[in-house]
Amino acid sequence: MKIAVLPGDGIGPEIVTQALRVLAVLQSDGLKVELEEAPLGGAAYDQFGAPYPDFTQKVCRAADAVLLGAVGGPQYDNLDRPLRPERGLLGIRKDLGLFANLRPAVLFPELANASTLKPEVVSGLDIMIVRELTGDIYFGEPRGMRTNKDGVREALNTMIYTEPEVRRIAHVAFGIARKRSQKLCSVDKANVLETTEFWKEIVIDVAKDYPDVQLTHMYVDNAAMQLVRNPKQFDVIVTGNIFGDILSDEASMLTGSIGMLASASLNETKKGLYEPAHGSAPDIAGKNLANPLATILSLAMMLRYTFEDEAAAGRIEAAVKKVLAAGFRTADIFEPGMTKVSCSDMGSQVVAAM
Ligand code: IPM
Ligand code: MG
Repeated sequence: MKIAVLPGDGIGPEIVTQALRVLAVLQSDGLKVELEEAPLGGAAYDQFGAPYPDFTQKVCRAADAVLLGAVGGPQYDNLDRPLRPERGLLGIRKDLGLFANLRPAVLFPELANASTLKPEVVSGLDIMIVRELTGDIYFGEPRGMRTNKDGVREALNTMIYTEPEVRRIAHVAFGIARKRSQKLCSVDKANVLETTEFWKEIVIDVAKDYPDVQLTHMYVDNAAMQLVRNPKQFDVIVTGNIFGDILSDEASMLTGSIGMLASASLNETKKGLYEPAHGSAPDIAGKNLANPLATILSLAMMLRYTFEDEAAAGRIEAAVKKVLAAGFRTADIFEPGMTKVSCSDMGSQVVAAM
């Protein structure tokens, strides 16, 4: 198995280093993987003049899985749009066909007080957000900024889904719901937007193949509200790219810190890109303060979904639980009485727990 390693920008290199230390434990116990590193985002722009250069594309296409840190930084904000780090991320998602983005929001019982919501609202929380990742307003054409025929400046993006795009993500979501608690909530804005009315219709049709799964629908504004009112009513949520982007950030905060949230982005053949759901946090980059657990948990997802090695995935997750139970906390999840640790110390604790 080959893993492409893309540290990216900001805190990316620090958190990826810790995940690789965890991987090294598995390697020393016999896991056979080859690693190849490549730049993405701003780091790639600095080295190759493009956020997803040919070199990186080659490495990623040849790999079975990709481990990514994060991309972006203020020094790149004034570049032309196609050169910006975020375009590197969108480029790799599209290039590898990574249409299914799985974002679990799981509350570790040890962190019930780290959430801004009351412990009784979030304790036991375990939601899986299935976000479509290669369509919708993120990629729809036409797009851009222009001056119209009346000489007035305007800008537009296009929200569009094809039927096959909706079908395949619906199948992924129903498949996951079937293995969990047989409950799936499809989130749309069908009262206003044709694109999502169409989405809803197709999800209802796909549901015929999954009579054992109970399908419900919710408008996205209500879903945003229900997520903070009573998040435990949800098990699996499926939604489009833009709604999923927003709701997954919201859901992550239920768990105490976005620094805990892992993600997997899969194509049709189980090839996947694994990355923390948080960003590059330029304000704390290089200070050894970042929380590496989301990246370490993303590595666990890689073992589960691409390598189908449930034992190794479980071993990493158990180690993370143990470290939290022992009271080790990075700054983002720190509470009085706990032991505050740096990014690299947190990595050491997970390695030791394994
Ligand atoms: C995410 C991020 C990205 C997105 C950005 C960095 C392009 O917010 O992965 O959720 O919008 O998809
Ligand atoms: Mg986002």
